[in-house]
Amino acid sequence: MSINIKYLGHSAFIISYNNSIIAIDPFITGNPLASNVSVLEKLTDILVTHGHGDHLGDSLRLSKKYNAPITTIFELANYCLKKGVKANGINIGGKVNFDWGYANWVPASHSSSTPDGQYAGVASGIILNINGKTIYHAGDTGLQYEFKMIGEFYKPDIAFLPIGGHYTMGQEEAVTATNWLRCKTVIPMHYNTFDVINSNENEFQNLIHSSTQAKCIILKPNEIYNVK
Ligand code: NI
Ligand code: MN
Repeated sequence: MSINIKYLGHSAFIISYNNSIIAIDPFITGNPLASNVSVLEKLTDILVTHGHGDHLGDSLRLSKKYNAPITTIFELANYCLKKGVKANGINIGGKVNFDWGYANWVPASHSSSTPDGQYAGVASGIILNINGKTIYHAGDTGLQYEFKMIGEFYKPDIAFLPIGGHYTMGQEEAVTATNWLRCKTVIPMHYNTFDVINSNENEFQNLIHSSTQAKCIILKPNEIYNVK
């Protein structure tokens, strides 16, 4: 079975493997890049890095629609439970087993709150391990030495890294992050959704190819990358 990674724009992805369909940070409503995107897949799991509206996104709606549990940081999971959906609360360092493999929650240098401004615990990154492939969604984060730890301990094959700046790191930091992560493939995210996070993905790709050992894959919204 192959692993398919579908990009929905911003930091939203759907990963399919075998009979599992996993949404990560499914921000669709209000996401200008996802205007032609509809989640038709019957989701089996929803993973969320932190509580900001552009990450929690449509998680509650999709969780209800597909009866798919939300796995996220403890405080944010409690918020989801209060909204009447299935949620599984974990924290940094935690590992959760799923039908498709397992995921580890790792630090991100960022803030977190619920859409109505409540405390949502810390922001996180998520590392999925599917059939021996390690796929790291960094969430929103600045450059952090934790990338070295993640590279050394979790050894990601593929990393989704924010490059838009302003709320997260920008391109130059993401290049250094790629070197620290020692990953083989980088997919940029969290850019061009709003003017304040505009970033030229082709320039980023050139930087990655000239300054790291990694390959940069640019995905357009609705585009699917097949993991070999
Ligand atoms: Ni955020
Ligand atoms: Mn964000």
